[in-house]
Amino acid sequence: MTGPAQRVTGKHAFITGAAGGLGAAIARMLARHGAKVFLTDVDELGVSALAAQINRELGTHAAWHAQQDVSDEALWQHRLAEAAEAMGGLSVLVNNAGIGSLGGVEQIELKEWRRVMSINLDSILFGCKYALPLLREQQPASIVNISSLAAFKVDPAYTAYNTSKAAVAMLTKSVAVDCAKQGIDVRCNSIHPAFIRTGIVAPFFAALGEEEATRKLTRGIPMHRLGEPDDVAYAVLYLASDESRYVTAAELVIDGGACAV
Ligand SMILES: NC(=O)c1ccc[n+]([C@@H]2O[C@H](COP(=O)([O-])OP(=O)(O)OC[C@H]3O[C@@H](n4cnc5c(N)ncnc54)[C@H](O)[C@@H]3O)[C@@H](O)[C@H]2O)c1
Repeated sequence: MTGPAQRVTGKHAFITGAAGGLGAAIARMLARHGAKVFLTDVDELGVSALAAQINRELGTHAAWHAQQDVSDEALWQHRLAEAAEAMGGLSVLVNNAGIGSLGGVEQIELKEWRRVMSINLDSILFGCKYALPLLREQQPASIVNISSLAAFKVDPAYTAYNTSKAAVAMLTKSVAVDCAKQGIDVRCNSIHPAFIRTGIVAPFFAALGEEEATRKLTRGIPMHRLGEPDDVAYAVLYLASDESRYVTAAELVIDGGACAV
């Protein structure tokens, strides 16, 4: 039996977009609860600093890092192989990296549409596709895809973002059912946060100021506040651990009640 601080001991987790925001909170959370973590991001300095910080805090080698653009298919295969080599296998994949993009249907250019799809959606396909052979080797295993409340609630100013995140939810279910039907214990779930205070919402605060941005972002949220990165990290901890062993193809909404109204 493991103690409360050891919920993912023995797990080997690969986390994308881990230099800041939700990815960094997820990395810290999993490592503090016993997992080994391999952190990637386009921001190499950022993941390098976080890995060093985690190793210092825990007093052991629990974190590794590497530069990765998640839209680069070939690089996925290299990074996953390096991670498995460093950690002794792979049992958790957290597809977290993603970007926002402003533009309604009549404004968005195809080039931008494709950029958003390649970073927010293609990356999830590459991650799942190339991680599965490794995850099969370390069952029970878990894939957690960070989607968004935007998968269910439309903001017409964010056409590409909404569409990419809705597709992530369906891709997640497809992977989950595929694994279940093959009889392999690799679960796959998506997480759908409302607004969390990270770099991705920084432009709102820069443009509108603290008070007005907070008012606008929390308008449809019954709890009347933004979420914290750890609200999402705790959900990932649950889905990465064997506590969620009967949960697959699920959409876990973390939104202060927004979906209900
Ligand atoms: N913060 C929110 O309000 C919110 C809400 C719902 C969903 N999300 C989702 O959560 C995830 C994390 O976002 P965040 O809020 O931490 O944002 P963030 O901007 O703080 O962090 C995103 C990280 O992804 C990295 N990144 C960007 N493009 C990349 C690429 N091509 N390859 C690899 N890394 C790349 C960035 O360098 C950054 O470290 C995203 O998928 C986002 O869509 C965020």
